[in-house]
Amino acid sequence: MPPQGVSIIAEKSHTMSAGFLGTAAPASADLMLLLEVVIGIGLLLGAVLARKKRYRAHAWCQSSVVLLNGVLIAVAMIPSFHERVQPKVPEKLDRSFYALATAHATLGSLAEAGGLYVALAAGTNLLPERLRLTNYKVWMRSVLILWWLALLLGLATYIRWYVSLFR
Ligand code: HEM
Repeated sequence: MPPQGVSIIAEKSHTMSAGFLGTAAPASADLMLLLEVVIGIGLLLGAVLARKKRYRAHAWCQSSVVLLNGVLIAVAMIPSFHERVQPKVPEKLDRSFYALATAHATLGSLAEAGGLYVALAAGTNLLPERLRLTNYKVWMRSVLILWWLALLLGLATYIRWYVSLFR
């Protein structure tokens, strides 16, 4: 028998368009996984631009990545979280299905908020003086690490939700 969760989602996915990665995921989840991996690599390449002192290109790259990610979170991830996870939290947090998604959503929220803050503080004059950044490097490195942890937890959520490991 496939692990619970996987079978429920697989059933649900039947009514949606089938994905293209050969798992039980709908096409929208497969697309989101691919886009998020590309975005994560984009963030790493953006960090390389900063090391090469190409600061203008770096700023454009990282701001675009943060904004695009914000759109994906708003359009796909928050609605999915509200529908499938939130109603079962905290009661079912002892199940990996909900625990992974909740840990992912928490770290993902912190990473996106951190990314928006750094983009606003470093690239604009919109924030009041006391909220401006004094240590860019520490902030940018922390957001990069947090982001990749959120991405890995997103991957773990995808595997738990859509991949049957014990067939
Ligand atoms: C830096 C921020 C984030 C990254 C890199 C990220 C990445 C990912 C990835 C790679 C997946 C797997 C694709 C999928 O299953 O559709 C995923 C799924 C998911 N994420 Fe995120 N995510 C982030 C932020 C968030 C936030 C803020 C929330 C909720 C408030 C969230 C909730 C979810 C949920 C519920 C899923 C499962 C979606 C589904 O398949 O229906 N994520 N995320």
